[in-house]
Amino acid sequence: MRNIPIALAGGVATLAAGAAGAQELNLICSADVVVCERLVTEFEASHDIAVNMVRLSSGETYAKIRAEARNPQTDLWWGGTGDPHLQAAADGLTAEYQSPMLEELQDWAVRQAEISDYRTVGVYSGALGWGYNTEIFEEKGLTPPQCWADLLNPELAGEIQIADPNSSGTAYTALATLVQIMGEDEAFEYLRALDANVSQYTKSGSAPVKAAARGETGLGIVFMHDAVAQAEEGFPIEVVAPCEGTGYEIGSMSLIEGAQNPDEAEVFYDWVLGADVQSIMPEAGSFQIPSNVNATPPEAAPDLSEITLIDYDFAQYGSTERRTELLARWDDEVGGVGVE
Ligand code: G6P
Repeated sequence: MRNIPIALAGGVATLAAGAAGAQELNLICSADVVVCERLVTEFEASHDIAVNMVRLSSGETYAKIRAEARNPQTDLWWGGTGDPHLQAAADGLTAEYQSPMLEELQDWAVRQAEISDYRTVGVYSGALGWGYNTEIFEEKGLTPPQCWADLLNPELAGEIQIADPNSSGTAYTALATLVQIMGEDEAFEYLRALDANVSQYTKSGSAPVKAAARGETGLGIVFMHDAVAQAEEGFPIEVVAPCEGTGYEIGSMSLIEGAQNPDEAEVFYDWVLGADVQSIMPEAGSFQIPSNVNATPPEAAPDLSEITLIDYDFAQYGSTERRTELLARWDDEVGGVGVE
C-alpha cells in the first residue's frame, strides 16, 4: 500500500493519479524551466505516463531528496550540475542503473556513471563564465572584464550577481572552480573581495544573467550557455570565457532510491538519453553540449575546445566531505541570502 504524503510538494498529484491507477512519474528538473517543460510535453505526447514535474535548483534538490530519504516523493532527478548528483550517489540516496543507452554516450557522460557506481549519468555539459549587458557597460563607461581577476575592479561595485552555492549548482561549480584554480585560501580571499561588487546572491544559477539581460544588473556569473540563451533571445548580452581558465559542469540524471515509480522513471531515463530528444533541446533555449554522441550540438553552443578548461576533479568536489566543507566555509566567510 502506498504511503499517503502529507504536506509535501507533489503529494496531491501523487494521490490523484495513483487512485486512478494511471502510470505516473514524479520528476525534479534542475535545468532551465523552459527546457524542463518542453521535455515533459514531448515525453507525455509519446508515452502513457503522466509527469508531475517541479523545477528546483541542484543544491535544493539534493537537500529535498535527503530530507525525504525514508519516504521518497521523487522518482527521477534530471539535470542540474553533477556535483550534488555525485554526493547523492555517495550517500546512497540514488539507485544504481545501467541504461542500455550508455553505449551511445560521450566518454565524459559515462565517466560520471562509472565514478558513482552507475547511480548517476551525464546528460549535458557546459563551461562557466559570465554574461554582461553591453548597454549598461557602455552607458556607465565600465571596462568589460575578461578574467576572474577583472571582476574585482572597484568600478564594478554593485554590478555583479551570482547565485548562492548552497542552493545553486552553478554557484557551487564557481566556488569549486576558483578553489581549483587558485588554491582554497586564495579562493576564499578572492570571494570575500568579490563580495564587495556583488549586489545579490540569487537562489537559481541562471537568474543573474536573466537580471543582466533585463538591465537590473551589469553582469551575471553563470554557465556560458545560459548567457548565450539570453543573447539568442535578443538581449544585449556579451558572453565571456575567463582568461585564467574555467570549470565546467556535467549536468546529470539520477534515479531515486526507493522511488514509488521506478519503472516509469527508467522509461524516461532511457528516452531522455536518446539523440532525437537531446537534439530538440536548443529549440527550448538550451545550449549545452548534449551527452549522446549522435545528438546535434546547438550551433550557438560555446565551443568547449576553444575555452581553457581546468581538469575539474568531479570525484573530489562531488564528494560529501568536500562539498559540505566548502559550503560551510562559504557560509562563514562570504555568506548571502538567496532571494529568487
Ligand atoms: C541552468 C543551466 C544548467 C545547469 C543549471 C543548474 O539551468 O542551464 O546547465 O545545470 O542551471 O541550476 P542551479 O540553479 O542549480 O544552478
